Amino acid sequence: MPNTVILGAQWGDEGKGKVIDIFSAKADFIVRYQGGNNAGHTVVIGEDEFILHLIPSGILHKGKVCIIGNGVVIDPKALFDEVDMLEKKGVSVAGRLLISEEAHVIFPYHRRLDELKEEQKKKIGTTKKGIGPCYADKVARSGIRIIDLLRESTLKDKLKANLEEKNAILTKIYGVEGFSFDGLYREYLEYGNMIKKYVANTALVLNDAIKKKKRVLFEGAQGTLLDVDHGTYPFVTSSNSTAGGASTGTGVGPTKIDKVIGVVKAYTTRVGEGPFPTEFPEDLMDRIRRKGKEFGATTGRPRRCGWFDSVIVKHSIMVNGIDEIVVTKLDVLDDLDFLKICTAYKYDGSIHKDFPADIRALDDCEPIYEELPGWKADTTQITSYLRLPKNAKNYLKRIQKILKAKIVLVSVGSDRKQTFSKSE
Ligand code: GDP
Ligand code: IMO
Ligand code: MG
Repeated sequence: MPNTVILGAQWGDEGKGKVIDIFSAKADFIVRYQGGNNAGHTVVIGEDEFILHLIPSGILHKGKVCIIGNGVVIDPKALFDEVDMLEKKGVSVAGRLLISEEAHVIFPYHRRLDELKEEQKKKIGTTKKGIGPCYADKVARSGIRIIDLLRESTLKDKLKANLEEKNAILTKIYGVEGFSFDGLYREYLEYGNMIKKYVANTALVLNDAIKKKKRVLFEGAQGTLLDVDHGTYPFVTSSNSTAGGASTGTGVGPTKIDKVIGVVKAYTTRVGEGPFPTEFPEDLMDRIRRKGKEFGATTGRPRRCGWFDSVIVKHSIMVNGIDEIVVTKLDVLDDLDFLKICTAYKYDGSIHKDFPADIRALDDCEPIYEELPGWKADTTQITSYLRLPKNAKNYLKRIQKILKAKIVLVSVGSDRKQTFSKSE
């Protein structure tokens, strides 16, 4: 297997966890490159369901090395909760998890600022995990990195400087209480002690591994339309979830990455605020949400659901350089009489096939649809593409044709086994 990025090509929750788990079998290293515990990646193995927020989904394969790269923001409490969860379920993390010295650290004031901003009128609908405020500090060059947790005096100086600023914002702008230095300093020094054994120069580890022809899988979090540059800004997350992030977020140069695979749901979902041209009307929304169990893996919020939107996926294919597509959750559409695929948006009196930068166009547009007949049959037990109902094959073929991208894998259920390659 070549060095491959697997990422979401819609608004997140495409089923990346499942797909990464499958591809991990053939990889040596699995690395997260951006985001933090705003992600929720589900892997189902028989009766067991694992939801991973920070640790790469490859951890469930014995012997694979999992890396949290420099581009990730780490909430140490969430990290250790996840390590405990895995150990309790019999998955050993020791010796298989490496964390970049350069990754930035989420503090309680980041979470508090995230919550407070979300209480304002113009909210984004974030996960309130402190992701945006932590990345803001990184870019403002005042952030605290994993390496700083291992140096007492550096942590002291940086935390003092940060608290001075954050407490002024909390008390003077928001009129709420600030944080005391002593408690936070002790807590994060202790995290430093706990995290020490995982910390490494992960860029060096990965580049050495690649020299030795080891295979690396880059695990994207969120989705392309949530990318801070290429998504529905400002209704996005604060990192580059697109393929370029795999390079900046790990220290592996783009020439060492061979392939990009985009994961798409057979329909569309998004959580939180922001434009969603193909969003279902209430009755269909409720039906698909229930059938697809569309509730957030991180926050439990109901996901908004809609028809497959080829305009956004074509945009994803372009900005990521996607080579191949995996289609998930086809089974969720099993009962429908007909299906719609959005092929263009109508706004300002004309039809547009390209993704607009101005989100007002997305808010106001009329989606142009193609309608296809449903297949009205259970696909969850199907184990090969050829056995799919004719109309299900037609739906996939039509998507492939519109996207001009090859579908390589189809998923018809959450279990590892409910997956087959597209052989036609
Ligand atoms: P991720 O964030 O992209 O990893 O996706 P999530 O884990 O947040 O959400 C995907 C959900 O769909 C999870 O509950 C998966 O177990 C489930 N899932 C994945 N693939 C399929 C599929 O083909 N069919 C069905 N019915 N569920 C799936
Ligand atoms: P995975 O990896 C779906 C959304 C939030 C919100 C916006 C900003 O499981 O696909 P943030 O907390 O990141 O500042 O929130 O991004 N969001 C996700 N939506 N899947 C995710 O991750 C998401 N991570 C963040 O709902 O709209
Ligand atoms: Mg998710």
